[in-house]
Amino acid sequence: MNLKNRTALVTGANRGIGFAIVNALLERGVKKVYAASRDVSKLPDFSDERVVPLELDINDRVQIGHAAEVASDVDLLINNAGVAAFTSLLTGPRELLERDMTTNYYGTLDMVRAFVPVLEDKQDAAIVNVVTIAAFANFPMAGGYSASKSALFSLSQGIRIELASRGISVHTVNPGPIDTEMAKDFPADKASPADTAVNILIGLENDEADIFPDAAGRQMFDVWNNDYRDLEKMVLDMHEAA
Ligand SMILES: NC(=O)c1ccc[n+]([C@@H]2O[C@H](COP(=O)([O-])OP(=O)(O)OC[C@H]3O[C@@H](n4cnc5c(N)ncnc54)[C@H](OP(=O)(O)O)[C@@H]3O)[C@@H](O)[C@H]2O)c1
Repeated sequence: MNLKNRTALVTGANRGIGFAIVNALLERGVKKVYAASRDVSKLPDFSDERVVPLELDINDRVQIGHAAEVASDVDLLINNAGVAAFTSLLTGPRELLERDMTTNYYGTLDMVRAFVPVLEDKQDAAIVNVVTIAAFANFPMAGGYSASKSALFSLSQGIRIELASRGISVHTVNPGPIDTEMAKDFPADKASPADTAVNILIGLENDEADIFPDAAGRQMFDVWNNDYRDLEKMVLDMHEAA
């Protein structure tokens, strides 16, 4: 995918990886970026007239519907917003485990459902879902988060197949630890959000279905890798033959 003259929407654009993605998109010559945040007053000053602030809580379906109307020129949807409860599946508060699933899985699903009709109108459109390497193996310190992101990875595989013949490509992004507020208490070497964002966009430009934007995440994926894409391709073949 060529990013020049694209119109993108990035959720959770007020900080962390989302903020870095907006900056990286601007550097790569996009036409416009909707910088979505659940509180637009928290958005930093991007000092660029191509940035359009958009109030959007991905757990609010009314706001999502409104966003799909306002941002009807979008041809690149980047679902970056997410939450993580660093708590145990066995003993952590159930509400926190539910919050991970509600935001990371259902919130992203609602975004996809609202924006597919918008994207379908465009040439060569794309959906990017920011998942995590913790979707590939459950990290018990954030077990509910891992589970919610595995669900998001599976969702991404499913819509990739459904949308394959409809001109919308679907990409997952699977970082290891990145130096943001979310990972502040995670004891590990962390890649910078700025480098991560640039590598995400390089992966997108190279049409990579599953993007591994930092060294630690890539290394963990290499350890895990046992040809999971074969099953995905098989399901795609079955779907196309049906
Ligand atoms: N940091 C890592 O190590 C790491 C690794 C792998 C994957 N990821 C993923 O990367 C993405 C970005 O995370 P980050 O590291 O940049 O963390 P972050 O600094 O905590 O940023 C999270 C962003 O998501 C937004 N958000 C949360 N709930 C939302 C909702 N209901 N509606 C709209 N926006 C919401 C937050 O907005 P508020 O400011 O309003 O809360 C914030 O802008 C997440 O999906 C995360 O799971 C992060």
